[in-house]
Amino acid sequence: MIARIEQLKQEKDVAIVAHYYVDGQVQDIADYVGDSFALSKIATIVPQKNILFCGVLFMGESAKTLNPKKTVMMPDLSADCPMAHMVTVEDILDVKEKYPDVAVVCYVNSTAEIKAYSDVCVTSSNAVKVVKALPNKDIFFVPDNNLAHFVAKQTPDKNFIFNDGYCHVHKKITTQHIADAKKRHPGVKVLTHPECTEDVLAVSDFIGSTAEIIDYATKCEDEEFLIATEIGVFHELQKRNPDKKFYPVKDSQICPNMKKITLEKVLNVLETFDNQVELHEEIRQKANYPLSRMLELAK
Ligand code: 13P
Ligand code: SF4
Repeated sequence: MIARIEQLKQEKDVAIVAHYYVDGQVQDIADYVGDSFALSKIATIVPQKNILFCGVLFMGESAKTLNPKKTVMMPDLSADCPMAHMVTVEDILDVKEKYPDVAVVCYVNSTAEIKAYSDVCVTSSNAVKVVKALPNKDIFFVPDNNLAHFVAKQTPDKNFIFNDGYCHVHKKITTQHIADAKKRHPGVKVLTHPECTEDVLAVSDFIGSTAEIIDYATKCEDEEFLIATEIGVFHELQKRNPDKKFYPVKDSQICPNMKKITLEKVLNVLETFDNQVELHEEIRQKANYPLSRMLELAK
């Protein structure tokens, strides 16, 4: 199957890009693997005419938004991030009415429609930088409440309006899990994604995006780490650091949607060119503005 995938992606001029949360086998056949920010940048520079995006729907939509001329496909279009739907256009319009100078800051884990109503996008690795660069004092940060609090703490001169979206995978990690994990592995640093709750972040040693966690663990001289994010990152952590040990903080740190992406589905889409990401042109154009602005402000 892997040989056939390699052959088809050459023959059909397809770049396979994959998020760190998809299965390790899928990461291994990808041309590019990264966090949400890296993948949105990569999508704008790949030389291939076609992109097969191994991740969840908002990622494929962002790639299509930034590259309307390319065919963007996904192994499974039903792989969606529930948090992307945890804010509505009405919520945004309400806040805009109450705060006329507000900047709507939209985490990339959102639908294209929500992006179309936003002023700028962010990912977990550039949110602080982008928010600091905005001239607006009032910030409506959607959809993720936890990332919003993480950013608000580091930008005290801003007035944050919060939305109540969350990632169910990260929200299920509790301080009790961290305390138990620390008992099992005394003295081991805890590296945590900012989609976790504020109390979990408070007992962590490092907070960062998936790529930042991987970089930190690679550069740090410690030999063991506790990892509080989706289990898919262990693949790259172990690949880059074969002699180090990585432990989850609890059972099942698993995003079921990311795990819908399989080698069989990758092969099927390479053969059929099914599952193309389509966006209404008006929405695409409007969503392109906050995404492109993010790429500019996060440089
Ligand atoms: P990053 O890739 O920015 O770390 O985000 C993680 C995530 O939840 C993607 O769905
Ligand atoms: Fe969405 Fe959480 Fe899965 Fe990321 S890990 S895709 S935020 S549900």
